[in-house]
Amino acid sequence: MIEQQWIAMDEYLCEQTQTPDESLEAALKSSAEAGLPAINVAPNQGKLLQMLARLRGARRILELGTLGGYSTIWLARALPADGTLLTLEADQHHADVARKNIERAGLSGVVSVIVGDAADTLEDFARDGIPPFDFIFLDADKQSYPEYLRLVLRLSRPGTVIVADNVIRGGRVTDAGSADPDVIGVRQFFDMLARDAHVSSTAIQTVGSKGWDGFSISIVS
Ligand code: SAH
Ligand code: DHB
Ligand code: MG
Repeated sequence: MIEQQWIAMDEYLCEQTQTPDESLEAALKSSAEAGLPAINVAPNQGKLLQMLARLRGARRILELGTLGGYSTIWLARALPADGTLLTLEADQHHADVARKNIERAGLSGVVSVIVGDAADTLEDFARDGIPPFDFIFLDADKQSYPEYLRLVLRLSRPGTVIVADNVIRGGRVTDAGSADPDVIGVRQFFDMLARDAHVSSTAIQTVGSKGWDGFSISIVS
């Protein structure tokens, strides 16, 4: 019952704050038709990511976990015409679907989908000495968040914003004795944030069409 109210409220908020967008709707439709799970961010969460990237003035964005490119499209639209978004995806089928969705949205010029295990790709980036990112969105497998944080901090600079999705997991993250690898990963991720004097963080819980979950938001100094 309460979940129905969360969903109704999300629908109301999206109606009041967003105009229907053909490319985003087409991305969700084609993702569903291609059999991808509906684990994309909600529309109002996508716009939050976009607004955070705009507030940051981001010119270089990194995303871990592309799926069908739904959050990718939201984030890429925060970029100036000469901006860059690199999005990392392990699953070739997801990447194929995402590339079509990104193309349809007219964003192929700024977005590159890189197929492979995100940790391997991030190691390559560090070895190649690529320029740091202004905004980083972690949304691949949750058990690897500690490893991803270690790797993306090497690709950050003072002022880089790091947002991580799914850090609440229906409240299961408070369970210190959990055997769930995702919960263990997220807890270790928070421990790393807490210990790092060069990272200032907060986290917010969200309810709505994607259930009870939330984001962490960090600024590197
Ligand atoms: N950001 C997307 C949702 C991502 S779902 C959105 O909101 O629209 C998580 C994605 O991470 C899935 O597509 C999954 O295939 C991918 N993934 C899982 N493990 C990965 C890994 N080790 N490296 C890269 N991508 C991975
Ligand atoms: C899952 C992954 C996500 O990124 C998400 O937002 C929700 C669920 C999952 O793997 O189940
Ligand atoms: Mg997610």
